[in-house]
Amino acid sequence: MTQVTCATAHPNIALAKYWGKVDGPTNLPAVPSLSMTLDAMSTTTSVGFGPGLDSDRVVINGRSATEAEAGRVSALLDRVRKEAGLRTRAWVETANDFPTGSGLASSASGFAALALAATKAAGLEWDAARVSDLARQASASAARSIFGGFVTLAAGAPDTIFLAAEPLEGTVEWPVAISVVITTYEPKAVGSTDGMRHTRATSPYYAAWVEHAETLFERARIAVLARDLEALGTAAEESAFAMHACAMAAAPPLVYFSPVTLSVIERVRSMRRAGTPAYATMDAGPQVKVLSSAADAARVASILREMPGVEKVIVARPGPPASVKLIRKGS
Ligand code: DP6
Repeated sequence: MTQVTCATAHPNIALAKYWGKVDGPTNLPAVPSLSMTLDAMSTTTSVGFGPGLDSDRVVINGRSATEAEAGRVSALLDRVRKEAGLRTRAWVETANDFPTGSGLASSASGFAALALAATKAAGLEWDAARVSDLARQASASAARSIFGGFVTLAAGAPDTIFLAAEPLEGTVEWPVAISVVITTYEPKAVGSTDGMRHTRATSPYYAAWVEHAETLFERARIAVLARDLEALGTAAEESAFAMHACAMAAAPPLVYFSPVTLSVIERVRSMRRAGTPAYATMDAGPQVKVLSSAADAARVASILREMPGVEKVIVARPGPPASVKLIRKGS
């Protein structure tokens, strides 16, 4: 009997960044991270294991996956097959309602939705922590998208065998927002996995980043527990700039900012000087994500929308955990 399962997960934005891995076979982050799951964007993924397929079939946003994309999906499915004692291949269909591969965390929501849909389709009754650990092995930020609100992911050690993200309880209701400022629809030049490998191998600031990231994470975590927007925003900006400074010092340098990125950052700072608490953070791409109170978000977004070079601004509140949408049994 074939079971088709459909799951939805939301991207997350790290406010204390993950950048760098420890040695080990299962994709372990070198630093702890803290993120907010976004309600306004989502990935929906369907998985069905069935006889008659000689390889996994993967469709992303209506097109066949590239070999590299399909390889990452099959690696996750292989772990699921091993746990479930299954030998059949699967078809996977996934779609984002936001631009893919442009620094908008599509791998986070993508692998979270895939991990949840695949384990359910294979008949595994796993709790969220186990699904998060599975998602983390495909993409560490995906571990965080299994949960809603504000979420932490600890650093791993070379001998870590299980590492799941953990939600900070009750934070979905915190009235804050992240305005996602899209400055280009072009895919990013160097993805996170390659970018952090290159940074670790060549940046003279890497050791300092890893050491300092722990302090920034702890400040961000305490700020969320205290619902202190100013303390969280300050720690988040410092984390983003420390990560980018470390990547910019790599050889050759990794520069993810565009001129529009810098003008948006400057505009956020000028809003803050004028009395609106708003804070910028950037990932492995030129987009800027701006943290503010929920009450200020519409005004912050409308100011940023007017800026030259800004394509679109999406306002997101803390979002829900990943969830199973549909299970269809067939024969
Ligand atoms: C800059 O989770 O995409 O967005 O584990 O290699 O798949 P892999 O990396 P990924 O890296 C995300 C990096 C970041 C910061 C963050 O989300 O914490």
